[in-house]
Amino acid sequence: MTAISRSKKWVVQLAVLALIALGTTFALEIADPQTADAQSSVRPPAGAVNQGADSGPQGGEVPGASSGNLSDSEMWRAVRKGIRGTVSIPDKNAGLMVQSEGDAWRATKNGPIATWGVLGLAGMVVLLAIFYLIRGKIRVDHGMSGRTITRFADMERMGHWLLAVSFIILAITGLNITYGKYFLLPLLGKSGFATIAAGGKWLHNYVAFAFMAGLVMILVMWIKENFPNKYDLEWLAKGGGMFVKGVHPPSKKFNAGQKILFWLVIWGGLGLSLTGIALLFPFQFDFPAGMEPIQQMQFATTWHAIISLVMVVVVIAHIYIGTVGMEGAYDAMGTGEVDENWAKEHHSVWAKEASKSRGGRKSKAVPAE
Ligand code: HEM
Repeated sequence: MTAISRSKKWVVQLAVLALIALGTTFALEIADPQTADAQSSVRPPAGAVNQGADSGPQGGEVPGASSGNLSDSEMWRAVRKGIRGTVSIPDKNAGLMVQSEGDAWRATKNGPIATWGVLGLAGMVVLLAIFYLIRGKIRVDHGMSGRTITRFADMERMGHWLLAVSFIILAITGLNITYGKYFLLPLLGKSGFATIAAGGKWLHNYVAFAFMAGLVMILVMWIKENFPNKYDLEWLAKGGGMFVKGVHPPSKKFNAGQKILFWLVIWGGLGLSLTGIALLFPFQFDFPAGMEPIQQMQFATTWHAIISLVMVVVVIAHIYIGTVGMEGAYDAMGTGEVDENWAKEHHSVWAKEASKSRGGRKSKAVPAE
């Protein structure tokens, strides 16, 4: 324990406290009978049920006379099961009075999805804090050489930052849609929260297009370096050398872990984009075919929420390793130049290829201070 500095202990203690506070608050919130008992929350309007002798059938009418031969209970059962009426307005969906699956959809979103999401987010933060406590910052074992190699060209960094900044804005504004009512609403009050939520929703709608552009850019620029190769299995078997000091499995430009992140971002990003477009332009696409239009919207919001939560959890780990977790890593996306020793330790095959292709050119030496 002597090797563990006070500051590291603080980080873990704070993270564990945050997790407990978050978990408790959230558990209390979702224990709210309105959410937990959502299955039974669709009821006929108060005035529609038989309210006693005075408001009962009069003048020879039978219960539910307004709906033909059905009794009130039969009528509401039919409504609850999704009976469709005819309407003369253009939106034929208005003929459906109650779509009961909407209740299950709401209960799933506010229940398991929201709960697993918060556990995943807090769990990842705690896991990273524990990893930091045990492993510390991953250092360049041979020390910085002072010479650098170009790792990412300007265009690559532009694509990455377009994707990263837009993703972070989308993540914050998106998380607010799911969790804001539990955490911010009690803090800001109804009108304060409404302003933040409406602004966030507006931002979310427009920033989505920057995210899609960033996604296309990294796909085009990096796809060829992200197909599996012979180094990947060894990299995975050795845990990327993350857990043991001095272990550095060979890798080309991207290692197996980075490839997993890349494909997760590409496929997840595609899923988010398609479901997001379906939500931006509701009822315009017949997908998945065979579902009711309103079910298609429920499908889109549900998958949008699941994919985004998984991505945010994984991206938290990526941001950790690209900043405080690994010495010298941020430079790759900051200046585009990485230290030669960093390159040799983390991407040995790529480093060799890069210095060969540089030919006789000298790498950029950083003068000693
Ligand atoms: C503050 C936020 C972020 C930081 C500091 C950061 C940092 C980095 C760094 C340093 C690299 C290069 C690693 C290397 O040289 O091997 C990188 C690569 C990459 N980043 Fe980020 N990143 C951030 C946010 C994001 C976000 C939000 C996404 C996606 C939604 C993302 C996706 C990627 C991908 C796909 C790569 C290439 C594969 C990889 O190196 O893992 N990044 N990032």
